[in-house]
Amino acid sequence: MKVLVIDDEEYVRLVLEDTLRQEGCDVTTVAQGQAGIEALQETSYDCVITDLRMPGIDGREILQWVREHQPDVDVIVLTGHGEVKSAVEAMKAGAWDFLAKQTPFDGIQVSAALTKLQAVRSLRRENLALRLGAVSRHIPSVLPGISPAWKKLMETVEKIALAQAPVLIQGETGSGKELIARTLHQLSPRRDRPFLAVNCGAVSDQLLESELFGHEKGAFTGATAAKIGLIAAADGGTLFLDEISEMSSPMQVSLLRVLDRGEYRQVGGTRTLTANVRFVAASNRNLQELMLAGRFRDDLLYRINTVLLQVPPLRERPEDIPPLAKHFLQTFHRSGTPIRHLSPDALERLAAYSWPGNVRELRNVVQRLSLLAGEKTSGPIEPDELAVVLPMNQLIRDRKDSAPPGSLEDAEKEHILRVLKDHGGNKTQTAKTLQIDYKTLLTKLRKYGVTE
Ligand SMILES: Nc1ncnc2c1ncn2[C@@H]1O[C@H](COP(=O)(O)OP(=O)(O)OP(=O)(O)O)[C@@H](O)[C@H]1O
Ligand SMILES: [Mg+2]
Repeated sequence: MKVLVIDDEEYVRLVLEDTLRQEGCDVTTVAQGQAGIEALQETSYDCVITDLRMPGIDGREILQWVREHQPDVDVIVLTGHGEVKSAVEAMKAGAWDFLAKQTPFDGIQVSAALTKLQAVRSLRRENLALRLGAVSRHIPSVLPGISPAWKKLMETVEKIALAQAPVLIQGETGSGKELIARTLHQLSPRRDRPFLAVNCGAVSDQLLESELFGHEKGAFTGATAAKIGLIAAADGGTLFLDEISEMSSPMQVSLLRVLDRGEYRQVGGTRTLTANVRFVAASNRNLQELMLAGRFRDDLLYRINTVLLQVPPLRERPEDIPPLAKHFLQTFHRSGTPIRHLSPDALERLAAYSWPGNVRELRNVVQRLSLLAGEKTSGPIEPDELAVVLPMNQLIRDRKDSAPPGSLEDAEKEHILRVLKDHGGNKTQTAKTLQIDYKTLLTKLRKYGVTE
């Protein structure tokens, strides 16, 4: 823990410094309130131990300042003899604890308080991550797939899981990039810490910046309270930067700075914070090409593709279709019905298909298959049953040959469905290509009867 001690008595500073060092803390001491606030603005601390009564800016003011500007910092106040009332007031004002200075002053109490604080802080961080809803759970250590390309990829994942270097995962939409990122985290020594994800293409620049780095109160209009960023929330864990190709140039610069120095600042903040996360980025576009086209910074690319995982599209590894289909048939299996399997002919039909939406599309197809199967359906799945669950492809192919659609709405529908298909059912991408709101897309799809 990084601890800042503010006390005007040199003896107290010395005792605290000595005790806290022995506890393994990183300690800074200052003799005045003003210097304390300056230190807080400059560096990031976990905890401030401050004397209550001091000339100039006193402990109460420091407490107030910290609560307002740096709510993630805990404050312990030191009180002199007979200052119970002030101690109670400090607790009410948001101090985490208070310690009475006895004479002679020793550090025993302080070590106990800090040990407790450390445990609470780590719990708090985990809670936050849980609330963000992104802590990975129940990830199988090895993902289904038997093709040589997939096996080699999994071997690499297992190997690099132990390292710290940033990772770039490239592959077509729906090929399993996020799943691989989660698996990587699960196999890494960071598995007990959070896995947090952010989609760099889904939010505005300003929002992305404050999401990643956090912001101070009043950093921008609407920032009514300070907020901790994802880098801090994922502390010790993995931060997944999805669709990194969509990051604006200024954001690329900020990210590069974090990757290079391991340090960053909150929006509107003056403190330098230390990042302890493993960055895993993903892109369904070729970053090398984007770089050559001047759309992605070469220095950032150089930095993030230290380890490059290229996920092969499903059509290039048809051997994986049977095990994946089996896996999804089990996933979507309704209890009380027999688990079905695909006939050799049906498998052949699946292998012949080009799967532009990759594994996600296969998953959707199997899901539809399971939903449509009647209660009494049993026996292997034959190609005719498959034809029913690939309606969108069929629809679009038929439509192309048929007479031009009549109404504008028909044309719109056809176009939307085609783009959706091109993106393998990925609605975020579809909305982006169509240059409409994600919500608008959902409304339209609902109108066309496309749910799921
Ligand atoms: N090898 C696999 N085994 C089981 N499920 C898989 C596998 N690969 C992908 N999936 C499933 O396919 C779907 C899409 O995977 P994922 O979200 O990881 O793709 P992605 O590459 O991140 O796609 P996008 O580029 O569209 O974000 C998910 O439901 C995922 O669980
Ligand atoms: Mg993804």
